[in-house]
Amino acid sequence: PALRLWGGRFADGPADALAALSLSTHFDWRLARHDIAGSRAHARALHRAGLLDRDELAGTLDGLDRLESDVADGTFTPRPADEDVHTALERGFIERVGPELGGRLRAGRSRNDQIATLVRMYLREQARSIADGVLDLVGALADQAAAHPGAALPGRTHLQHAQPVLLAHHLLAHAWPLLRDVQRLRDWDRRAAVSPYGSGALAGSSLGLDPAEVAAELGFDGAVHNSIDGTAARDVVAEFAFVTAMIGVDLSRLSEEIILWATKEFSFVTLHDAFATGSSIMPQKKNPDIAELARGKSGRLIGDLAGLLTTLKGLPLAYNRDLQEDKEPVFDAADQLALLLPAFTGMVATLTFNTGRMAELAPQGFALATDVAEWLVRQGVPFRTAHELAGACVRRCEERGVELWDLTDGELAGISPLLTPGVREVLTVAGSLASRDGQGGTAPARVAEQLERVRAEQAEH
Ligand code: ARG
Repeated sequence: PALRLWGGRFADGPADALAALSLSTHFDWRLARHDIAGSRAHARALHRAGLLDRDELAGTLDGLDRLESDVADGTFTPRPADEDVHTALERGFIERVGPELGGRLRAGRSRNDQIATLVRMYLREQARSIADGVLDLVGALADQAAAHPGAALPGRTHLQHAQPVLLAHHLLAHAWPLLRDVQRLRDWDRRAAVSPYGSGALAGSSLGLDPAEVAAELGFDGAVHNSIDGTAARDVVAEFAFVTAMIGVDLSRLSEEIILWATKEFSFVTLHDAFATGSSIMPQKKNPDIAELARGKSGRLIGDLAGLLTTLKGLPLAYNRDLQEDKEPVFDAADQLALLLPAFTGMVATLTFNTGRMAELAPQGFALATDVAEWLVRQGVPFRTAHELAGACVRRCEERGVELWDLTDGELAGISPLLTPGVREVLTVAGSLASRDGQGGTAPARVAEQLERVRAEQAEH
């Protein structure tokens, strides 16, 4: 019969349908390495508590080493009858050290405290590699900003031309949220670095085991202060899912712009052949599939978060089997970002910007109207009046089908004698950009400082 961790009080084995429903090795097997690390730390705790003598500890650790290498090279794998990663590894352990020694390791622990610990261990590793991937993308954005120090494009609000901005400023505006995502992961890790091991099923252990020592051995900062919380809480898992969803949303917003920019109508960017795809029927097509997959996967990442929160919301304390459903969403989120981030960074790093086209469009659509109004303010005119006068200039331009700088001195003076030819100094993109020179503004000198700041934050992590 299959090894079960709970057979004693049952006269009958589980129905096939229950076994199939219950099975989790197809997704929790990726925690095998962490489960074995937990077993090693637990064996030492049992030894310190006098429950495994020296030889038994040595035999246990040796058996775990052999099991670990057999797992690593694929010699040992779960069988269909193994309910979960813990059951499979207990079987493998007993096969290696025999039932007498093999039956001692489970004392004082439960799959409930084990799984809660293993998920944190696994997600902490994933968080580090996701952060590295996000920082690579920040680096690619910073490199593109550095490569185009003087390029301007139409800054938009409501997707309408608003004011000209530097391309570097715009690209760095995507870097900052990503840096905050990395900060979120680092900050999350402080909360994830607390070990539930030793909580047992929910109430702690009567065997004199020290959870703090197990925690330290497993790389945690400490052990939980409440065993019920340790086994039942999944807010740390949900918070991980939030950060991955947020990264998805941040990538999706940049994706939307790249998709627009790559259209014939915009023609702001060209995708590198290695990071674009073709059509099976239309020979001319070059499609921004990476950006589209990023935009699509953001929906999936949000779904992972929403599904997990929904699973958690009605659960009484402490452990409930519903909690087995916590893993697939976050494993999926980590897997998707592991696929997405390198491709996305490659796409951004290899974008070619059509700076001529951007520069031509930057001042169009009366994007310098605010500059006219602010020039008037600097001449002493109240902003309310200045706004009206600049608006009158726009109206005049629309009647004539021209841009602001095409208005003659006479036309300007006709709108208001305050509009002297001196206003022409701000009717250029360069003049407009240079004038926005407060901290965070789009003036080239400010953007150069900002770029250094982004680089410094990127290097700091
Ligand atoms: N496989 C379970 C999970 O992922 C852990 C085992 C706890 N099972 C139990 N019947 N108490 O949450």
